[in-house]
Amino acid sequence: MAELGGTAHLSGYAIEDLRSRLLAWYDSNRRDLPWRRTQDPYAIWVSEIMLQQTRVAAVVDRYEVFLRNFPSVEALAFAAEDDVLTLWSGLGYYRRARMLHKAAKAVARDHLGVMPRTAAGLRELPGIGAYTSAAIASIAYGEMTAVVDGNVERVAQRLAGWGSESREGQSKLSRATETLANMLLDLKRPGDFNQSMMELGATVCLPTSPKCLTCPIELHCRTRGEHPTPKRAKMRSQDAAYALVIRSRGEDREVLLDQRPEDQTVMPGMWELPALRETEVAASDLNMVVRHAIMEVNYSVRIRNVAEEEAGELVIPSERRRWTRIHDVDAMPLTGLARKVLFRAKLPELSPSITVLK
Ligand code: ADE
Repeated sequence: MAELGGTAHLSGYAIEDLRSRLLAWYDSNRRDLPWRRTQDPYAIWVSEIMLQQTRVAAVVDRYEVFLRNFPSVEALAFAAEDDVLTLWSGLGYYRRARMLHKAAKAVARDHLGVMPRTAAGLRELPGIGAYTSAAIASIAYGEMTAVVDGNVERVAQRLAGWGSESREGQSKLSRATETLANMLLDLKRPGDFNQSMMELGATVCLPTSPKCLTCPIELHCRTRGEHPTPKRAKMRSQDAAYALVIRSRGEDREVLLDQRPEDQTVMPGMWELPALRETEVAASDLNMVVRHAIMEVNYSVRIRNVAEEEAGELVIPSERRRWTRIHDVDAMPLTGLARKVLFRAKLPELSPSITVLK
């Protein structure tokens, strides 16, 4: 493994060459993503928060609907939290949405609705750390600051041939990687350069099988595919079971929903189907089986049809339980799993399209 520090293996000329190759590659290969068509710092902020821990494909739809409903930082600041969570549903990690909402309120209250114009100023806002502030400031304002996410780390460390086994080594490695990323940054197009590094990591310099043959900067890379393979988090498998309880009330049909307690670390305050006491479900009662991954757990979720009279006995009690018109569930902050199940249940009252509040 090469020694940490600077850009020792790259001459000034090589760095210039790397920048122009990477930017040229980005210009002709970048994915056409909606947040790449704007300079609005608020819209870029929303995209960067959504993209943390969530796949690009899942973000694309949600991003556009979110911005249609909350087109400005002030619109978001004055929104009800439930509406914000509803539009976040399916993206997971709901704390991000709460922090985004809180930060929008801070911008409206303390900055007259105008986003801070520097990475340092942005970092003062709740939920905006080094990564997000650098992304917004470089993309929206052209500030010379490197974005270092997992993809950029991998690209930079492979370029330099760096790695570390030990924990102390890890923090040194992170600092050296950040320095290297800043030294590589293109002076004229820092936002595009940052995005090109992220894009390369996401589409070419992949964690396990990097496509070095198509890499635009392979000639500057010390490892060229010869790299230690990172350990993947092991996924666990787990069974879960929920009740689909539907009743008729006059013209309407209603579904029974539970609200997760506010003190839960995962998805506090979100609405879901009532959990069953037993995860085994007889074939005659089974409505569907859904696969759902949350963090490191692959859930196999059985959905049981339960009659109203049976619910008390079969489901785990909940402090907040409510019959909700099926017409209205689309506008509730549902967990991603609950939304998936309700759509797959093909309830005629639900539109097959994605949630739009207005
Ligand atoms: N991942 C997160 N933000 C990104 C961006 N702006 N471009 C490419 N990949 C990203």
